[in-house]
Amino acid sequence: MSDDTTIDLNGDEGVDGDRLASLEQLFFQEESPEVGLEEVDAAPAELRDRLVLALDVDDVVEAIRLVHELKPWFGAAKVGLELFTSAGPDAVLSILAEGMKVFLDLKLFDIPTTVGKAGRVIGALGASYLTLAGFGGVPMLRAGVEGLAEGASLAGLDPPTALAVTMLTSDTGAPEHVLGNRVRAALEAGCGGVVCAASDAAEVKRMAPHFIVVVPGIRTEGSPRHDHGRSATPGEAYAAGADLLVVGRTVTAAADRSAAAAALIASIVS
Ligand code: C5P
Repeated sequence: MSDDTTIDLNGDEGVDGDRLASLEQLFFQEESPEVGLEEVDAAPAELRDRLVLALDVDDVVEAIRLVHELKPWFGAAKVGLELFTSAGPDAVLSILAEGMKVFLDLKLFDIPTTVGKAGRVIGALGASYLTLAGFGGVPMLRAGVEGLAEGASLAGLDPPTALAVTMLTSDTGAPEHVLGNRVRAALEAGCGGVVCAASDAAEVKRMAPHFIVVVPGIRTEGSPRHDHGRSATPGEAYAAGADLLVVGRTVTAAADRSAAAAALIASIVS
């Protein structure tokens, strides 16, 4: 694979024909034309870097098993409350040791001082992303951003990107203006992006073009939606402006997880 090939999945037009053609070319270029997807065992780097694997398990050994099996397909692993409550910073360090980036999904919410201090600890762990509750407001979000920067600087690391969670999918009654308010708060606080539903991604990109937009609830065509009220296919999410997609059960709950990951990639490039 050539090093100078770049693919921008976030242009105004989303994933158009030309981009898909380049992606297909990247995906298959080291294979003979007859080789099918089932024989390809990794995602192209440009696509892998935009996929986050949700490790919704409560045991670090099980988490590392998933990381080991699926790291050819995903650039980062998401550690949520369940795994962090069980294994704490060891979960982060174990994933980093496997060569994957860490997306720490703790949705921090507390007084600004406490969030700042937690951010300072997290900033020194080596994670690439940290989520904070968007409804925490500007002072809390800013304290988190500053804490991350301070902790990372003390450890000689780059600070994790602070991501404000705009709305939980369980927050079904949230009025329309909430999204705009939370994006503005995240901007004012110096966050690097947000987590939102695919259906909100275009509006977030309009308000904050430089934001990293992270979209969970990703489902391939026809796969179970589980508890997601607003799920999207990878193509729909990228077309709406998503930078990173969070993928969990569509792959982790499959009988053959590698095959499910390959099918996910195929659904993007075909
Ligand atoms: O549904 P899936 O297993 O792909 O979920 C991946 C991530 O999406 C979860 O770790 C969770 O953070 C998030 N999620 C969500 N809303 C739901 C269910 C899951 O945002 N209703």
